[in-house]
Amino acid sequence: MKTRTLGRSGPEVSIVGLGAGPLGDLRLGETEADALVGAALDLGVTLFDTARSYGASEERLARALGTRRRDVVLATKGGYGVDGVADWTADAIRLGVDGALSRMQTDVIDVFFLHSCDLGTLTRDDLLAELDRAKVAGKVRLAGYSGEGDALAWAVASGRFDVVECSVNPFDQSNVDGAIRDAAARGLGVLAKRPLANAAFRFDAPPGAQDVRTYWDRMRTMGVDPSPLAWPALAVRFAAFADGVTAALVGTSRVAHLERAVRAATDGALDEPTARRVRDAWAAHGASWPGVI
Ligand SMILES: NC(=O)c1ccc[n+]([C@@H]2O[C@H](COP(=O)([O-])OP(=O)(O)OC[C@H]3O[C@@H](n4cnc5c(N)ncnc54)[C@H](OP(=O)(O)O)[C@@H]3O)[C@@H](O)[C@H]2O)c1
Repeated sequence: MKTRTLGRSGPEVSIVGLGAGPLGDLRLGETEADALVGAALDLGVTLFDTARSYGASEERLARALGTRRRDVVLATKGGYGVDGVADWTADAIRLGVDGALSRMQTDVIDVFFLHSCDLGTLTRDDLLAELDRAKVAGKVRLAGYSGEGDALAWAVASGRFDVVECSVNPFDQSNVDGAIRDAAARGLGVLAKRPLANAAFRFDAPPGAQDVRTYWDRMRTMGVDPSPLAWPALAVRFAAFADGVTAALVGTSRVAHLERAVRAATDGALDEPTARRVRDAWAAHGASWPGVI
């Protein structure tokens, strides 16, 4: 699979990464979890994105990677979720990094993201200093922020981060001409989350989950016909080849879906008329639609 450099001088990563949220869901058996990670490695996926809040994902990912940990780039997220410690405190960052190292059985986290905190929290010097200390201590290679809107814009402009993660898909394009362009110009790596728009196209009736519902409503308003492509292929190619994006993080519990995403990315950027259709539909309807956190 094609690779790109993560940021100015980061590691090489495959342009499709595995969004490891579904790995944390215990309805996915241990065998299936191992098979998914194994298949990802076999497909050339070298980027794995997890978080403290994704259930058992960090632990399962580490176990499934085993000694191949050294062949991949491992990203996780935190700022919260340390027993007995208030969220979004310096201790929560410091002990959160230590906890992630231990859960992922590694001595360094390639990217540690502050996970979707708001602007007021993100700009706090005590938290940023703790993240810097984790880098100096060699526990974290690259500092990241994952989120949207004014906080994302601040993270990009601040000079405090190496990587950002934000939503990019046909129904979520607000970052494409804004934060991502600025991030790329400043040499930051950019990971595209929700590249499949949470597969909102799967539903005939309004889905229950709010984020998926938002994309479903936008999809219907935009009225884009994906043919002759199928939605998953169009969405992956749109996200992975948006200007400035380093890699698209495909969230899936199924090997077949990951294979399809990798195959689509191998086909390259969307042809110009298709890309134009998707961009024009956004320009016509999406100007006031914010990025979905
Ligand atoms: N705030 C944050 O930091 C944040 C928020 C959201 C996401 N993320 C990151 O981005 C990753 C991806 O985002 P996401 O998982 O929310 O959304 P996504 O990748 O846009 O969509 C995932 C959904 O698409 C389905 N899917 C995948 N391939 C498919 C196909 N070919 N056909 C039909 N359905 C398909 C998956 O179901 P199956 O399991 O059935 O394939 C899953 O329900 C996450 O795993 C996470 O790493 C971060």
